[in-house]
Amino acid sequence: MTVIALVPAAGFGTRFHEEGPKALVLLAGKPLLLHALERLGASGRIARAVIAVPPDHRAAFEPVVAASPIPCELVDGGVTRRDSVAKAVAASKAADDDLLCVHDAARPLVDPVEVAAVIDAATVAGAAVAGFSLIETVKKVQGGKVVETVPRNDLVAATTPQVFRADLLRKAFHKEAKRNVTDDAELVERIGVAVAVVLTSRWNVKITYPEDLHWAEAFLARGPLVEANA
Ligand code: CTP
Ligand code: MG
Repeated sequence: MTVIALVPAAGFGTRFHEEGPKALVLLAGKPLLLHALERLGASGRIARAVIAVPPDHRAAFEPVVAASPIPCELVDGGVTRRDSVAKAVAASKAADDDLLCVHDAARPLVDPVEVAAVIDAATVAGAAVAGFSLIETVKKVQGGKVVETVPRNDLVAATTPQVFRADLLRKAFHKEAKRNVTDDAELVERIGVAVAVVLTSRWNVKITYPEDLHWAEAFLARGPLVEANA
């Protein structure tokens, strides 16, 4: 059983107000995508990576491929994240019992130990996602007014990595061909698979807005996660 990383990196970061691909934005002097590949590689579990990139920007990604600790193949991404992941799945040439580890290029701080934990959970369950328990009180709002306070005990914010047996992810993309989703687990849930959840540190943030980069820089300057959680 081989674990293949699928890395959607074809977005343009409209909320980040970036000119080029967000995956190439520098964090502490290094592209977000390279941080993510290094941390995936440090898990010691990933054999290779398929990276979905904007078709017109392939050349700009070559330096990242050259510096990556795991072998990488670039494929053309799609208009939506879902399309980019679907294209990476198709290009992965995974055997049915291989594991596909989907991880956003925009999550550069993922903990390698937590990557391994999600892979372990997917080895048992067939599908597993990383996530963290919510700390804020969650309210449902309509027309600017609270209509409900949602009990948060059962709520988890799903992140990546999300790891799936290749046959399950292929089946999910095939059966839910029209549905646009922001995470792949939803498709796998919809074909009736019980997706395991691995609770992780909240520091596995997605770089979405410019200020997120400042938090990530502070995190890197601070040192190991264990200290930050102590
Ligand atoms: N992504 C992708 N293909 C797309 C859109 C997004 O591969 N067509 C990737 C992004 O590169 C990112 C991940 O999906 O690594 C998560 O997406 P998000 O954080 O939303 O990034 P963007 O779509 O680039 O940002 P925005 O939504 O602000 O435009
Ligand atoms: Mg997006």
